[in-house]
Amino acid sequence: MNPQFILKGSVVYSTDKDHIKSIEQGYVVCDKGICRGVFQQIPEQYRDFPLLDFGNQLILPGMTDLHVHAPQYTYRGLGMDLELLQWLSTYTFPEEARYQDMSYAKEAYSYFTQDLKRSYTTRAVIFGTIHNEATIELMDQLEATGLVTYVGRVNMDRNGGENYEEASWEASLQDTKEWLQAVKNRYQNTKPILTPRFIPTCSDSLMKGLGELMQEKGLRLQSHLSENLDEIAWVRELVPASDCYANAYEIFGTLGNKEFPVVMAHCVYSDEREMEILKRYGVFVAHCPSSNVNVCSGLAPVKKQLEYGLRVGIGTDVAGGSSINMLAAMLTAIQVSKMYNRVIDRECPPLTFEEVFYLATLGGGAYFGKVGSFQEGYEFDALVIDDSKIKSTRSLTPRERAERMVYMNEECMITKKYVRGVEI
Ligand code: GUN
Ligand code: FE
Repeated sequence: MNPQFILKGSVVYSTDKDHIKSIEQGYVVCDKGICRGVFQQIPEQYRDFPLLDFGNQLILPGMTDLHVHAPQYTYRGLGMDLELLQWLSTYTFPEEARYQDMSYAKEAYSYFTQDLKRSYTTRAVIFGTIHNEATIELMDQLEATGLVTYVGRVNMDRNGGENYEEASWEASLQDTKEWLQAVKNRYQNTKPILTPRFIPTCSDSLMKGLGELMQEKGLRLQSHLSENLDEIAWVRELVPASDCYANAYEIFGTLGNKEFPVVMAHCVYSDEREMEILKRYGVFVAHCPSSNVNVCSGLAPVKKQLEYGLRVGIGTDVAGGSSINMLAAMLTAIQVSKMYNRVIDRECPPLTFEEVFYLATLGGGAYFGKVGSFQEGYEFDALVIDDSKIKSTRSLTPRERAERMVYMNEECMITKKYVRGVEI
């Protein structure tokens, strides 16, 4: 497919973490799936591209959900009175164990993939379960949506409870290799990513094996890091040789590199030592504010992580987070950063709107390459958003309307969605 067209409307996009471009009646040019830039007049060479005029509607880059659990979608909002470790063992692991049953998996994944297709998300990094067959079903369904994703078959060979543990680390590795083989060359938009759930559920041998597999096959990896205080204390016991949680991953060789970067979800309690490690390996931090509040994990220092120069994006972390709506996640990120400033560190200012817009688009998009902006050469992921229900008595800039879109996101609607220039 060679999509060539121009979208016209009120365009808003980030150029870096501190700057948003806001263009009234702008023309966004898509040429073979690549953005050629935003213009006030259509440049000569694009004059014969079809024009789609959206009037006054907002046109934004697509959003990246850097961390979300597909099998947790259908039980969002349940058991939320518990903290992380109790919530996992009481609700999450028994729920994920059901994906052994393919008819259950097919139905539940169809709810997730169809809703994700209609959401603000154009790219996502996704957890499945420990089951090969169900994870392949999830990948098949995601491929059919047209979204671009990384999907992980979860590894866990300990502490999963009665029904949700793999037989041994050898079996876990073997099944992972079989899954990789089965999905090889099967998709255009859906890629596998290694997914050790987190250190409490993965033995040292399993972690080392996954680190080696990652190196050998040039794979990416995703996991959880420093989310909850009990979890962190547990990891210190489980890996006594480590001097912090990130160092435990480092010992097992699972932090990747800048070319094949790792995503670590949460990093709520990452201090200077941990940030230094994350920066050195080029790890992406998936900031998951809704989840951090729901399961009472804490307030993450995302502003400090940005200022330290870490690569950061936003994750909805369903079902720790209760919604896949990235605009809602942006709002919670702003609110949590304000509470961080008020309650934890008065010296650390809240996130600006520029920063949160960047995190949801360009910050997380960078995990997929040149994604998340309308600068020349970026992959053409775009959203056309109708915010006309949000009434105003005076005229606002597109940038001002984008801010209101985040705060009043339930009053907005998606008109069109494109991924790599293809309408979804
Ligand atoms: N840590 C390990 N597994 C999970 C999970 O499923 N959700 C969250 N929020 N944290 C985790
Ligand atoms: Fe998670």
